[in-house]
Amino acid sequence: MKEIKLEATLFTYNSINELQDLVERDLCFASINARQDAYADYSRFSVGASLLLDNNEILTGSNQENAVYPLGLCAERVGIFSANTQYPDSKILKLAVSTSAKEGDNDYPAFPCGSCRQVISEQEVRFSQDIKVFVIAANQRVFVMNSIKDILPFTFTKFLL
Ligand code: THU
Repeated sequence: MKEIKLEATLFTYNSINELQDLVERDLCFASINARQDAYADYSRFSVGASLLLDNNEILTGSNQENAVYPLGLCAERVGIFSANTQYPDSKILKLAVSTSAKEGDNDYPAFPCGSCRQVISEQEVRFSQDIKVFVIAANQRVFVMNSIKDILPFTFTKFLL
């Protein structure tokens, strides 16, 4: 028997303005603004995503819900699929996600759900490009990881087959 220990490194900043890179700041603020486009009438939990592509474009996505609840889609996937459609040859370099606070939970952000982690992972594998992920809480505290692998180890990928 062998034990496998996993290690993940995340960085935290108390505010977006603590980020040194100005494009990264813009990216984070774009994800906050994107929350305004959310259609979240059922959960009342609006999420905004923004993506920096290798052509320097910043695209956004927001969660889009439906009366048939499972049909809704998370902000991250709306943004990623939109990027893949508009710029099929562009790599996503960085992705930011902003969420609204639940009461009393102002400094803890909602990390991408399992399905979105898998979709982000597919982008990393497909384009051989790690994606730097920024997760932003309602009080603008930022959690940063250099790859989705930090929060999705042992990802499912066709390349392992
Ligand atoms: N949601 C996202 O947009 N991204 C996530 O990573 C987690 C959850 C959305 C889905 C749904 O519209 C709402 O948040 C509540 O779950």
